[in-house]
Amino acid sequence: TTGTTQLIVNADLTKGTISKHIYGHFAEHLGRCIYEGLWVGPESPIPNTDGIRNDVLAALKKLNIPVLRWPGGCFADEYHWKDGVGPNENRKRMVNTHWGGVVENNHFGTHEFMRLCELLECEPYICGNVGSGTVQEMSEWVEYMTFGGESPMSNWRQKNGRTEPWELTYFGVGNENWGCGGNMRPEYYADLYRRYQTYVRNYDGNKLYKIAGGANIDDYKWTEVLMREAGTMMDGLSLHYYTIPGDFWLGKGSALDFTEDEWFITLKRALHMDELITKHGQIMDQYDPEKRVGLIVDEWGTWFDVEPGTNPGFLYQQNSIRDALVAAVHFNIFHNHNDRVHMANIAQMVNVLQAMILTEGDRFILTPTYHVFEMYSVHQDAERVELAAHTRDYVAKDEAIPAVNATASRNAEGVLHISLCQLDHEQGDTVEIDLRGIGAISGVSARILTADHLNAHNTFEQPDLVSPQDHDVTVTEDGKLVLDVPAMSVITIAVR
Ligand code: AHR
Repeated sequence: TTGTTQLIVNADLTKGTISKHIYGHFAEHLGRCIYEGLWVGPESPIPNTDGIRNDVLAALKKLNIPVLRWPGGCFADEYHWKDGVGPNENRKRMVNTHWGGVVENNHFGTHEFMRLCELLECEPYICGNVGSGTVQEMSEWVEYMTFGGESPMSNWRQKNGRTEPWELTYFGVGNENWGCGGNMRPEYYADLYRRYQTYVRNYDGNKLYKIAGGANIDDYKWTEVLMREAGTMMDGLSLHYYTIPGDFWLGKGSALDFTEDEWFITLKRALHMDELITKHGQIMDQYDPEKRVGLIVDEWGTWFDVEPGTNPGFLYQQNSIRDALVAAVHFNIFHNHNDRVHMANIAQMVNVLQAMILTEGDRFILTPTYHVFEMYSVHQDAERVELAAHTRDYVAKDEAIPAVNATASRNAEGVLHISLCQLDHEQGDTVEIDLRGIGAISGVSARILTADHLNAHNTFEQPDLVSPQDHDVTVTEDGKLVLDVPAMSVITIAVR
Protein backbone atom coordinates (compact mmCIF):
# COMPACT_ATOMS: atom_id res chain seq x y z
CA THR A 1 0.00 0.00 0.00
CA THR A 2 0.98 3.57 -0.56
CA GLY A 3 0.06 6.61 1.46
CA THR A 4 -0.29 10.13 0.22
CA THR A 5 1.52 13.20 1.41
CA GLN A 6 1.26 16.74 0.22
CA LEU A 7 3.95 19.37 0.61
CA ILE A 8 3.49 23.05 0.01
CA VAL A 9 6.72 24.92 -0.57
CA ASN A 10 6.65 28.71 -0.58
CA ALA A 11 9.91 29.40 -2.34
CA ASP A 12 9.65 33.16 -1.83
CA LEU A 13 8.93 33.01 1.91
CA THR A 14 12.41 32.87 3.36
CA LYS A 15 13.09 31.87 6.93
CA GLY A 16 16.72 32.82 7.44
CA THR A 17 20.01 31.23 6.48
CA ILE A 18 20.81 27.61 7.31
CA SER A 19 24.31 27.98 8.70
CA LYS A 20 26.71 25.60 7.01
CA HIS A 21 28.10 24.96 10.49
CA ILE A 22 25.07 22.78 11.17
CA TYR A 23 26.93 20.27 9.01
CA GLY A 24 29.90 20.16 11.38
CA HIS A 25 31.85 17.14 12.58
CA PHE A 26 33.62 15.89 15.66
CA ALA A 27 36.79 13.79 15.96
CA GLU A 28 37.94 12.63 19.38
CA HIS A 29 40.94 10.69 20.60
CA LEU A 30 38.67 7.71 21.04
CA GLY A 31 39.03 4.21 19.66
CA ARG A 32 40.07 4.29 16.03
CA CYS A 33 38.78 7.73 15.13
CA ILE A 34 42.01 9.72 15.12
CA TYR A 35 44.54 6.89 15.06
CA GLU A 36 43.91 4.55 12.10
CA GLY A 37 40.80 6.39 10.96
CA LEU A 38 42.31 9.76 10.13
CA TRP A 39 45.95 9.58 11.15
CA VAL A 40 48.33 6.82 10.12
CA GLY A 41 51.57 8.80 10.40
CA PRO A 42 53.93 9.84 7.61
CA GLU A 43 55.81 6.51 7.68
CA SER A 44 52.72 4.39 7.08
CA PRO A 45 52.43 2.23 3.92
CA ILE A 46 48.88 3.59 3.67
CA PRO A 47 49.10 6.53 1.26
CA ASN A 48 48.95 9.73 3.29
CA THR A 49 49.57 13.45 3.28
CA ASP A 50 51.69 14.47 6.26
CA GLY A 51 50.37 11.42 8.12
CA ILE A 52 46.69 11.87 7.24
CA ARG A 53 45.31 9.07 5.10
CA ASN A 54 44.52 10.12 1.54
CA ASP A 55 41.51 7.88 0.92
CA VAL A 56 39.60 9.15 3.96
CA LEU A 57 40.62 12.72 3.23
CA ALA A 58 39.38 12.56 -0.37
CA ALA A 59 36.02 11.13 0.73
CA LEU A 60 35.57 13.70 3.49
CA LYS A 61 36.41 16.57 1.16
CA LYS A 62 33.33 15.75 -0.89
CA LEU A 63 31.14 16.59 2.12
CA ASN A 64 32.22 20.21 2.14
CA ILE A 65 32.91 20.01 5.86
CA PRO A 66 32.58 23.45 7.48
CA VAL A 67 34.00 22.84 10.94
CA LEU A 68 35.66 20.07 12.95
CA ARG A 69 35.59 19.76 16.74
CA TRP A 70 38.63 18.28 18.53
CA PRO A 71 40.21 16.73 20.72
CA GLY A 72 37.09 15.63 22.66
CA GLY A 73 34.61 14.93 24.21
CA CYS A 74 35.58 13.53 27.52
CA PHE A 75 39.15 13.33 26.27
CA ALA A 76 39.35 17.14 26.13
CA ASP A 77 39.16 17.55 29.90
CA GLU A 78 42.10 15.23 30.35
CA TYR A 79 44.16 16.46 27.45
CA HIS A 80 47.30 18.48 28.08
CA TRP A 81 48.09 20.12 24.79
CA LYS A 82 51.75 20.76 25.60
CA ASP A 83 52.33 17.00 25.55
CA GLY A 84 51.29 16.98 21.90
CA VAL A 85 53.67 19.50 20.30
CA GLY A 86 57.36 19.37 19.39
CA PRO A 87 59.42 16.37 18.22
CA ASN A 88 57.57 13.07 18.52
CA GLU A 89 60.27 11.44 20.60
CA ASN A 90 59.72 14.05 23.32
CA ARG A 91 55.94 13.77 23.36
CA LYS A 92 54.61 12.24 26.53
CA ARG A 93 52.74 8.99 26.43
CA MET A 94 49.56 8.99 28.50
CA VAL A 95 46.72 6.65 29.33
CA ASN A 96 43.43 7.37 27.66
CA THR A 97 41.43 6.57 30.78
CA HIS A 98 38.01 7.28 29.31
CA TRP A 99 38.38 5.28 26.17
CA GLY A 100 39.73 1.79 26.59
CA GLY A 101 42.70 2.62 28.80
CA VAL A 102 45.00 2.55 25.78
CA VAL A 103 48.27 4.41 25.43
CA GLU A 104 47.97 7.79 23.75
CA ASN A 105 51.33 8.64 22.23
CA ASN A 106 50.38 12.24 21.44
CA HIS A 107 51.62 11.97 17.87
CA PHE A 108 48.47 13.68 16.71
CA GLY A 109 48.54 17.09 18.39
CA THR A 110 47.78 20.72 17.64
CA HIS A 111 49.94 21.00 14.50
CA GLU A 112 48.58 17.77 13.05
CA PHE A 113 44.99 18.78 13.79
CA MET A 114 45.45 22.19 12.19
CA ARG A 115 46.98 20.50 9.15
CA LEU A 116 43.96 18.20 8.94
CA CYS A 117 41.64 21.21 8.97
CA GLU A 118 43.75 22.89 6.31
CA LEU A 119 43.53 19.79 4.09
CA LEU A 120 39.78 19.50 4.67
CA GLU A 121 39.43 23.25 4.13
CA CYS A 122 37.34 23.46 7.27
CA GLU A 123 37.47 25.61 10.39
CA PRO A 124 38.89 24.20 13.61
CA TYR A 125 36.79 24.06 16.77
CA ILE A 126 39.05 23.37 19.72
CA CYS A 127 37.77 22.26 23.09
CA GLY A 128 39.94 23.29 26.05
CA ASN A 129 40.48 21.51 29.36
CA VAL A 130 38.58 22.84 32.37
CA GLY A 131 38.11 19.58 34.27
CA SER A 132 41.77 18.79 34.95
CA GLY A 133 43.62 21.71 33.36
CA THR A 134 44.64 25.11 34.61
CA VAL A 135 43.58 28.55 33.51
CA GLN A 136 47.17 29.18 32.48
CA GLU A 137 47.29 26.06 30.32
CA MET A 138 44.13 27.04 28.46
CA SER A 139 45.24 30.61 28.08
CA GLU A 140 48.63 29.55 26.72
CA TRP A 141 47.07 27.20 24.19
CA VAL A 142 45.19 30.09 22.64
CA GLU A 143 48.35 32.20 22.73
CA TYR A 144 50.29 29.36 21.07
CA MET A 145 47.77 29.02 18.28
CA THR A 146 46.75 32.58 17.55
CA PHE A 147 49.44 35.07 18.62
CA GLY A 148 51.86 36.21 15.93
CA GLY A 149 54.11 38.52 17.96
CA GLU A 150 56.95 37.90 20.37
CA SER A 151 55.84 35.78 23.32
CA PRO A 152 56.83 32.52 24.99
CA MET A 153 54.06 30.52 23.32
CA SER A 154 54.33 32.18 19.95
CA ASN A 155 58.09 31.63 19.95
CA TRP A 156 57.61 27.99 20.89
CA ARG A 157 55.14 27.47 18.04
CA GLN A 158 57.63 28.95 15.62
CA LYS A 159 60.37 26.72 16.97
CA ASN A 160 58.02 23.79 16.34
CA GLY A 161 57.80 24.69 12.68
CA ARG A 162 54.82 26.98 12.30
CA THR A 163 55.73 30.62 11.68
CA GLU A 164 52.33 32.20 11.18
CA PRO A 165 49.64 31.87 13.81
CA TRP A 166 46.58 29.89 12.82
CA GLU A 167 43.13 31.34 12.42
CA LEU A 168 40.90 30.00 15.13
CA THR A 169 37.33 31.06 15.76
CA TYR A 170 35.56 28.34 17.73
CA PHE A 171 36.83 27.58 21.20
CA GLY A 172 35.01 25.45 23.77
CA VAL A 173 35.65 26.05 27.46
CA GLY A 174 35.37 22.46 28.66
CA ASN A 175 33.08 19.58 27.76
CA GLU A 176 30.26 17.89 29.67
CA ASN A 177 31.37 19.55 32.87
CA TRP A 178 28.32 18.06 34.57
CA GLY A 179 29.89 14.62 33.98
CA CYS A 180 33.24 13.46 32.62
CA GLY A 181 34.40 17.08 32.49
CA GLY A 182 34.50 17.44 36.28
CA ASN A 183 31.13 16.37 37.76
CA MET A 184 30.34 19.99 38.54
CA ARG A 185 27.16 21.71 39.61
CA PRO A 186 25.97 24.33 37.12
CA GLU A 187 26.62 27.17 39.59
CA TYR A 188 30.22 26.06 40.02
CA TYR A 189 30.85 25.53 36.34
CA ALA A 190 29.27 28.89 35.50
CA ASP A 191 31.83 30.57 37.74
CA LEU A 192 34.68 28.53 36.31
CA TYR A 193 33.48 29.34 32.81
CA ARG A 194 33.57 33.06 33.63
CA ARG A 195 37.07 32.73 35.00
CA TYR A 196 38.62 30.53 32.30
CA GLN A 197 37.15 32.49 29.41
CA THR A 198 38.61 35.71 30.80
CA TYR A 199 42.08 34.50 29.85
CA VAL A 200 41.09 33.10 26.49
CA ARG A 201 42.30 36.16 24.61
CA ASN A 202 41.66 37.64 21.22
CA TYR A 203 45.16 38.17 19.80
CA ASP A 204 46.08 40.09 16.69
CA GLY A 205 42.52 40.72 15.61
CA ASN A 206 41.65 37.03 15.86
CA LYS A 207 38.12 36.98 17.23
CA LEU A 208 37.17 33.89 19.18
CA TYR A 209 33.64 32.53 19.39
CA LYS A 210 33.53 31.16 22.95
CA ILE A 211 31.36 28.16 23.63
CA ALA A 212 30.34 27.22 27.16
CA GLY A 213 29.84 23.58 28.08
CA GLY A 214 26.11 23.00 27.97
CA ALA A 215 23.42 20.67 29.13
CA ASN A 216 22.92 16.98 28.81
CA ILE A 217 19.62 16.15 27.10
CA ASP A 218 16.82 17.79 29.11
CA ASP A 219 18.83 19.29 31.95
CA TYR A 220 17.06 22.64 31.66
CA LYS A 221 18.40 23.82 34.98
CA TRP A 222 21.90 23.71 33.54
CA THR A 223 20.91 25.98 30.67
CA GLU A 224 19.04 28.31 33.03
CA VAL A 225 21.99 28.74 35.40
CA LEU A 226 24.55 29.12 32.64
CA MET A 227 22.51 31.74 30.80
CA ARG A 228 21.74 33.62 34.01
CA GLU A 229 25.26 33.62 35.40
CA ALA A 230 27.42 33.71 32.29
CA GLY A 231 25.21 34.33 29.26
CA THR A 232 26.76 37.68 28.45
CA MET A 233 30.26 36.19 28.40
CA MET A 234 29.61 33.47 25.84
CA ASP A 235 28.86 33.27 22.14
CA GLY A 236 27.54 29.74 22.22
CA LEU A 237 26.17 27.22 24.68
CA SER A 238 26.35 23.56 23.83
CA LEU A 239 23.78 20.77 24.02
CA HIS A 240 24.41 17.02 23.82
CA TYR A 241 21.73 14.53 22.90
CA TYR A 242 22.26 11.04 21.53
CA THR A 243 19.64 8.85 19.87
CA ILE A 244 19.61 5.57 21.80
CA PRO A 245 16.84 3.04 21.18
CA GLY A 246 17.47 1.18 24.45
CA ASP A 247 18.85 2.32 27.77
CA PHE A 248 22.25 4.00 28.10
CA TRP A 249 23.36 1.79 30.99
CA LEU A 250 21.29 -1.37 30.55
CA GLY A 251 21.84 -1.90 26.84
CA LYS A 252 21.61 0.64 24.06
CA GLY A 253 20.52 -1.76 21.33
CA SER A 254 22.38 -3.20 18.39
CA ALA A 255 23.37 -1.20 15.32
CA LEU A 256 22.34 -4.01 12.97
CA ASP A 257 20.39 -6.64 14.84
CA PHE A 258 17.16 -4.83 15.69
CA THR A 259 13.40 -5.20 15.36
CA GLU A 260 10.74 -3.11 13.63
CA ASP A 261 9.79 -1.68 17.02
CA GLU A 262 13.36 -0.59 17.59
CA TRP A 263 13.37 1.07 14.18
CA PHE A 264 10.32 3.09 15.21
CA ILE A 265 11.56 4.00 18.67
CA THR A 266 14.90 5.11 17.23
CA LEU A 267 13.25 7.57 14.88
CA LYS A 268 10.85 8.73 17.54
CA ARG A 269 13.80 9.49 19.78
CA ALA A 270 15.63 11.25 16.98
CA LEU A 271 12.58 13.51 16.59
CA HIS A 272 12.87 14.35 20.30
CA MET A 273 15.72 16.68 19.36
CA ASP A 274 13.06 19.16 18.24
CA GLU A 275 11.52 19.42 21.71
CA LEU A 276 14.94 19.72 23.35
CA ILE A 277 16.00 22.60 21.12
CA THR A 278 12.64 24.31 21.60
CA LYS A 279 12.77 24.11 25.38
CA HIS A 280 16.45 24.99 25.83
CA GLY A 281 15.81 27.77 23.31
CA GLN A 282 12.91 29.14 25.36
CA ILE A 283 15.18 29.45 28.39
CA MET A 284 17.85 31.11 26.30
CA ASP A 285 15.22 33.52 24.92
CA GLN A 286 14.59 34.87 28.41
CA TYR A 287 18.19 36.00 28.75
CA ASP A 288 19.00 36.53 25.11
CA PRO A 289 15.88 37.50 23.15
CA GLU A 290 18.01 38.65 20.20
CA LYS A 291 19.33 35.10 19.88
CA ARG A 292 22.93 36.27 19.88
CA VAL A 293 24.08 33.20 21.76
CA GLY A 294 24.06 30.12 19.55
CA LEU A 295 22.81 26.76 20.73
CA ILE A 296 25.69 24.53 19.65
CA VAL A 297 24.59 20.92 19.34
CA ASP A 298 28.16 19.68 19.35
CA GLU A 299 27.37 16.04 20.00
CA TRP A 300 24.47 14.23 18.38
CA GLY A 301 23.78 10.98 16.58
CA THR A 302 23.04 7.33 17.25
CA TRP A 303 24.73 5.49 20.08
CA PHE A 304 24.40 1.71 19.94
CA ASP A 305 26.16 -1.20 21.63
CA VAL A 306 29.61 -1.73 20.14
CA GLU A 307 30.00 -4.32 17.40
CA PRO A 308 30.40 -7.76 18.97
CA GLY A 309 34.03 -8.62 19.63
CA THR A 310 35.28 -5.03 19.55
CA ASN A 311 36.74 -3.07 22.47
CA PRO A 312 33.80 -1.68 24.51
CA GLY A 313 35.79 1.51 25.07
CA PHE A 314 36.18 2.16 21.35
CA LEU A 315 32.50 2.81 20.54
CA TYR A 316 32.75 1.19 17.12
CA GLN A 317 29.34 0.58 15.57
CA GLN A 318 28.02 -0.26 12.13
CA ASN A 319 25.74 2.14 10.33
CA SER A 320 22.57 1.31 8.42
CA ILE A 321 19.76 2.97 6.51
CA ARG A 322 18.23 3.62 9.95
CA ASP A 323 21.20 5.88 10.76
CA ALA A 324 20.67 7.66 7.46
CA LEU A 325 17.14 8.54 8.52
CA VAL A 326 18.29 9.67 11.94
CA ALA A 327 20.73 12.05 10.26
CA ALA A 328 18.12 13.42 7.86
CA VAL A 329 15.61 13.98 10.67
CA HIS A 330 18.24 15.93 12.62
CA PHE A 331 19.06 18.17 9.68
CA ASN A 332 15.40 18.93 9.12
CA ILE A 333 15.07 19.88 12.79
CA PHE A 334 18.25 21.97 12.82
CA HIS A 335 17.02 23.81 9.71
CA ASN A 336 13.75 24.65 11.45
CA HIS A 337 15.70 26.11 14.37
CA ASN A 338 18.23 27.99 12.27
CA ASP A 339 17.63 31.16 14.31
CA ARG A 340 19.07 29.52 17.46
CA VAL A 341 21.12 26.54 16.33
CA HIS A 342 24.30 28.05 14.94
CA MET A 343 26.35 24.87 14.79
CA ALA A 344 26.01 21.12 15.19
CA ASN A 345 28.65 18.39 15.19
CA ILE A 346 27.80 14.77 14.66
CA ALA A 347 29.58 12.22 16.84
CA GLN A 348 31.88 11.15 15.26
CA MET A 349 33.76 11.40 11.99
CA VAL A 350 35.44 7.98 11.50
CA ASN A 351 35.07 4.57 13.22
CA VAL A 352 33.26 5.94 16.29
CA LEU A 353 29.48 6.10 16.93
CA GLN A 354 27.49 7.42 13.95
CA ALA A 355 30.47 7.66 11.64
CA MET A 356 30.82 8.85 8.06
CA ILE A 357 33.51 6.33 7.32
CA LEU A 358 34.56 2.94 8.67
CA THR A 359 38.09 1.65 8.10
CA GLU A 360 39.80 -1.69 8.34
CA GLY A 361 43.53 -1.56 7.67
CA ASP A 362 43.98 0.12 4.30
CA ARG A 363 40.32 -0.37 3.34
CA PHE A 364 37.44 1.98 3.99
CA ILE A 365 33.71 2.22 3.39
CA LEU A 366 31.28 5.11 3.27
CA THR A 367 28.28 4.70 5.55
CA PRO A 368 24.65 5.57 4.76
CA THR A 369 25.14 8.55 7.08
CA TYR A 370 27.97 9.78 4.87
CA HIS A 371 25.61 9.75 1.90
CA VAL A 372 23.01 11.82 3.75
CA PHE A 373 25.65 14.41 4.63
CA GLU A 374 26.61 14.55 0.97
CA MET A 375 23.00 14.76 -0.29
CA TYR A 376 22.11 17.46 2.24
CA SER A 377 25.25 19.54 1.70
CA VAL A 378 23.30 21.60 -0.86
CA HIS A 379 21.48 23.26 2.05
CA GLN A 380 24.68 24.70 3.53
CA ASP A 381 24.37 28.49 3.82
CA ALA A 382 21.18 28.44 1.73
CA GLU A 383 18.03 30.36 2.68
CA ARG A 384 15.45 28.15 4.29
CA VAL A 385 12.04 28.55 2.67
CA GLU A 386 8.66 27.81 4.16
CA LEU A 387 7.43 24.27 3.82
CA ALA A 388 4.21 22.76 5.12
CA ALA A 389 3.74 19.00 5.13
CA HIS A 390 0.39 17.24 5.22
CA THR A 391 1.35 13.69 5.86
CA ARG A 392 -0.12 10.59 7.42
CA ASP A 393 0.80 9.04 10.76
CA TYR A 394 3.30 6.26 10.93
CA VAL A 395 1.99 4.18 13.83
CA ALA A 396 3.72 1.54 15.91
CA LYS A 397 3.31 0.45 19.51
CA ASP A 398 0.20 2.67 19.76
CA GLU A 399 2.30 5.71 19.11
CA ALA A 400 2.44 7.89 16.03
CA ILE A 401 5.05 10.00 14.28
CA PRO A 402 4.69 11.80 10.94
CA ALA A 403 5.57 9.48 8.05
CA VAL A 404 7.25 12.05 5.84
CA ASN A 405 9.57 14.69 7.22
CA ALA A 406 10.90 17.41 4.90
CA THR A 407 12.83 20.66 4.51
CA ALA A 408 13.53 23.12 1.70
CA SER A 409 16.01 25.87 0.89
CA ARG A 410 17.09 28.11 -1.93
CA ASN A 411 20.77 28.65 -2.65
CA ALA A 412 22.61 31.72 -3.95
CA GLU A 413 22.16 30.56 -7.56
CA GLY A 414 18.39 30.39 -7.05
CA VAL A 415 18.23 26.59 -7.07
CA LEU A 416 15.52 25.22 -4.80
CA HIS A 417 16.38 22.03 -2.92
CA ILE A 418 13.78 19.92 -1.18
CA SER A 419 14.86 17.03 1.04
CA LEU A 420 12.35 14.47 2.22
CA CYS A 421 12.59 11.38 4.31
CA GLN A 422 10.21 8.50 4.74
CA LEU A 423 10.35 7.24 8.31
CA ASP A 424 7.94 4.36 7.77
CA HIS A 425 9.83 1.10 7.43
CA GLU A 426 7.03 -0.63 5.51
CA GLN A 427 4.92 1.76 3.56
CA GLY A 428 5.86 4.46 1.09
CA ASP A 429 4.00 7.58 -0.01
CA THR A 430 3.12 9.25 -3.24
CA VAL A 431 4.16 12.81 -2.55
CA GLU A 432 2.77 15.78 -4.37
CA ILE A 433 4.67 19.03 -3.99
CA ASP A 434 2.91 22.27 -4.63
CA LEU A 435 5.55 24.86 -5.51
CA ARG A 436 4.64 28.46 -4.88
CA GLY A 437 6.59 31.64 -5.42
CA ILE A 438 8.78 30.14 -8.10
CA GLY A 439 9.04 31.08 -11.80
CA ALA A 440 9.07 28.68 -14.74
CA ILE A 441 10.82 25.40 -13.97
CA SER A 442 13.70 24.64 -16.30
CA GLY A 443 14.81 21.35 -14.81
CA VAL A 444 14.18 18.94 -11.96
CA SER A 445 16.48 16.18 -10.75
CA ALA A 446 16.50 14.00 -7.66
CA ARG A 447 18.58 11.42 -5.82
CA ILE A 448 17.44 8.80 -3.38
CA LEU A 449 19.06 6.74 -0.64
CA THR A 450 16.92 3.75 0.23
CA ALA A 451 16.96 0.06 1.04
CA ASP A 452 14.63 -2.91 1.22
CA HIS A 453 15.46 -4.19 4.67
CA LEU A 454 15.71 -2.56 8.07
CA ASN A 455 19.42 -2.95 8.65
CA ALA A 456 20.74 -2.48 5.12
CA HIS A 457 24.33 -1.29 5.40
CA ASN A 458 27.64 -1.23 3.59
CA THR A 459 30.39 -3.74 4.26
CA PHE A 460 33.98 -4.07 3.18
CA GLU A 461 32.79 -6.81 0.81
CA GLN A 462 29.83 -4.80 -0.50
CA PRO A 463 30.73 -1.15 -0.01
CA ASP A 464 28.03 0.34 -2.25
CA LEU A 465 24.96 -1.57 -1.18
CA VAL A 466 23.41 1.58 0.29
CA SER A 467 24.35 4.48 -1.93
CA PRO A 468 22.45 7.27 -3.69
CA GLN A 469 20.70 6.62 -7.00
CA ASP A 470 18.87 8.89 -9.41
CA HIS A 471 15.16 9.14 -8.75
CA ASP A 472 12.22 10.05 -10.99
CA VAL A 473 10.13 13.14 -10.39
CA THR A 474 7.18 14.04 -12.60
CA VAL A 475 6.34 17.67 -13.27
CA THR A 476 2.59 17.96 -13.85
CA GLU A 477 1.02 20.36 -16.34
CA ASP A 478 0.12 22.76 -13.57
CA GLY A 479 3.71 22.75 -12.31
CA LYS A 480 3.45 20.37 -9.36
CA LEU A 481 6.05 17.75 -8.57
CA VAL A 482 4.94 14.18 -8.00
CA LEU A 483 7.22 11.41 -6.80
CA ASP A 484 7.36 8.13 -4.97
CA VAL A 485 8.88 8.29 -1.52
CA PRO A 486 9.37 4.62 -0.68
CA ALA A 487 9.69 3.12 2.78
CA MET A 488 13.02 3.88 4.49
CA SER A 489 14.24 6.57 2.12
CA VAL A 490 15.95 9.94 1.98
CA ILE A 491 15.53 12.05 -1.16
CA THR A 492 16.91 15.40 -2.27
CA ILE A 493 15.28 17.17 -5.22
CA ALA A 494 16.85 20.07 -7.10
CA VAL A 495 14.49 22.44 -8.89
CA ARG A 496 15.96 24.92 -11.35
O1 AHR B 1 31.16 11.04 21.80
C1 AHR B 1 31.48 10.20 22.85
C2 AHR B 1 31.39 10.86 24.21
O2 AHR B 1 30.08 11.18 24.49
C3 AHR B 1 32.11 12.16 24.36
O3 AHR B 1 33.45 12.01 24.64
C4 AHR B 1 31.41 12.80 25.52
O4 AHR B 1 31.45 14.20 25.46
C5 AHR B 1 30.02 12.23 25.45
O5 AHR B 1 29.63 11.73 26.67
